[in-house]
Amino acid sequence: MGVPALIVAAGSGQRLGAGGPKALVELAGRPLYAWSVDAFRRATHIDRIFVAVPPGQAGLFTEPGIVTVEGGETRSHSVANGLAAITAEGDPGLVVVHDAARPLVSPALIDAAVIGLDSDSGLHALIAAAPVTDTVKRLGEEGVVAETLDRSQLVAVQTPQVFRVEMLQRAIEAGDLAAATDDAALVEAVGGSVGVIESPSGNIKVTVPGDLELAAHFLEGSR
Ligand code: CTP
Ligand code: MG
Repeated sequence: MGVPALIVAAGSGQRLGAGGPKALVELAGRPLYAWSVDAFRRATHIDRIFVAVPPGQAGLFTEPGIVTVEGGETRSHSVANGLAAITAEGDPGLVVVHDAARPLVSPALIDAAVIGLDSDSGLHALIAAAPVTDTVKRLGEEGVVAETLDRSQLVAVQTPQVFRVEMLQRAIEAGDLAAATDDAALVEAVGGSVGVIESPSGNIKVTVPGDLELAAHFLEGSR
């Protein structure tokens, strides 16, 4: 089985503050997004890689074998544009969405997520998530703790996220794209059933400069 991947890389990277798109920032000798492209190339169940890029900057995304698509105003708009390009070639059944900002994603996690959704007809999506190890509290009025949440019921959501294409399309058409922080939330909003697959602790997201140092440390250590 082979399904398409959509790597969203069209963000501007405000919090990283590198003065250019985060996806092109150098990480251990290569642009940040190239590490994700590599992982998807090595995954057994991926047959095409689409990358949503900042408008007008496709020429800077030179990894071989990728298809670039112009990204949109928010992450969800970038996903919508990428999905439109993918489905223009026919309905592939499943699609994997991944943030370029998670360069340490493993081919094993990608394959496990694709197989997991393909083999569970009761699910519309299967998303990578990590158990929450900190105690989490909800704040009430004036920043005072209102309650301590039951950590055993909480997960921190990551990517990759695998979707049934038909359901993701429906969720995008119905959803508030400007407000959504991930696509799984759009699927939940239309009543879709979203499962989780545990991701390894190394699947970090590069958001601020310290994250880039941490990711470089991991990648250089694994060589
Ligand atoms: N993304 C995208 N299109 C957008 C916004 C974000 O494709 N309009 C992508 C980013 O490139 C990133 C992922 O979504 O791979 C997660 O977003 P985030 O980490 O927030 O990246 P940025 O939006 O680039 O960073 P910031 O919020 O600090 O500006
Ligand atoms: Mg952002």
